[in-house]
Amino acid sequence: MNGRATIIGTGSYLPKRILTNTELEKIVKTSDEWITTRTGIKSRRIAGAGEETSVMAAQAALKAMEMADVSGPELDMIIVGTMTSDMVMPSCACLVQKEIVAENAFAFDVSAACSGFLYAMEIADRYVKNAPEMKVLVIGAETLSARVNWQDRNTCVLFGDGAGACVVTGSEAEDGLLASQLYSDGGLWQLLSLDVHPRRYCPGIDYGTIPDRDSFCDGSAINMVGKDVFKYAVREMGNAVEKLFIKEGITVDDIDLLIPHQANIRILKSLAERLNLSFDKVYTTIQKYGNSSAASLPIALDEANREGRLQKGDLLLFSVFGGGFTWGVVLWRW
Ligand code: ACO
Repeated sequence: MNGRATIIGTGSYLPKRILTNTELEKIVKTSDEWITTRTGIKSRRIAGAGEETSVMAAQAALKAMEMADVSGPELDMIIVGTMTSDMVMPSCACLVQKEIVAENAFAFDVSAACSGFLYAMEIADRYVKNAPEMKVLVIGAETLSARVNWQDRNTCVLFGDGAGACVVTGSEAEDGLLASQLYSDGGLWQLLSLDVHPRRYCPGIDYGTIPDRDSFCDGSAINMVGKDVFKYAVREMGNAVEKLFIKEGITVDDIDLLIPHQANIRILKSLAERLNLSFDKVYTTIQKYGNSSAASLPIALDEANREGRLQKGDLLLFSVFGGGFTWGVVLWRW
């Protein structure tokens, strides 16, 4: 074993409820055309009763465990990247542990907004380097629909819910996490914030109907200065990737696929342009699922994996950006 974290199973869960741009036109003053051209989003998934963050996370985990052929008791650690855990205490990871009967694991959440999954993966890699036999569940899961103001067209059109998971262990070959670098800048926190913890679920809501902000939220919703977030995201994701390329002595031509946080198609196109990376090499799910924060990257990774887009030996780049600000980049040999 080389000690690097390698992925032996992926899984994801998307809520059943699909909310289209056309439906959003009935909630706020917007249009399918505006949302599509500014963000690339056509629809997003909205979690309902019985689809709390921990439930979606556990469902994604079970699929990843099935692919990895790893049972609950075989897991040593569970890390969930989330900012919309069901409760403040216990952590989402502990609720997942109970759900999947992983009695031998220890479990905790990582709070790094949209970057939560990649932060969690980095932590997993550090553990696995010390103990390559460890089996770690790394999850990104969010229910942002419960934390947007459904009367604020600047934000409510952007977000969606879901969960993605990976089972990670020490690599026996040349695959796995080759290099990574994480960043934060707390000085910019006011550009993207959420100041109250979400509810586990909202009793009495018919989640089959169009979301109603007053029912969904207890007063707090995501605040965002969209233009600034856009600018920093493109600049810092680009800087982080370029620094990693220099450090690792590789060029953009070595990259087979970029799997980024799915924030906005224009952010991803600007990033690809800046890196001189063909957009064919950027994996996107934003059209279908919107921005599901920490869940977006592992959902995209699972979809790419299950549709056979990832070939053994491929060089993958994971790139994220989110509130905090937090951001980071990981180079991965599949
Ligand atoms: N429908 C119609 N019009 C809208 C909508 C909407 N949903 N939202 C805003 N507008 C209006 C604005 O009110 C404004 O009108 P005005 O000129 O009369 O004041 C006009 O459209 C232009 O608004 P801008 O904010 O300038 O639009 P912009 O081109 O910057 O696009 C957007 C807004 C899509 C939010 C963009 O700034 C963006 O994507 N930013 C990044 C935000 C992001 O990705 N956040 C996710 C969290 S962080 C992360 O995941 C990386």
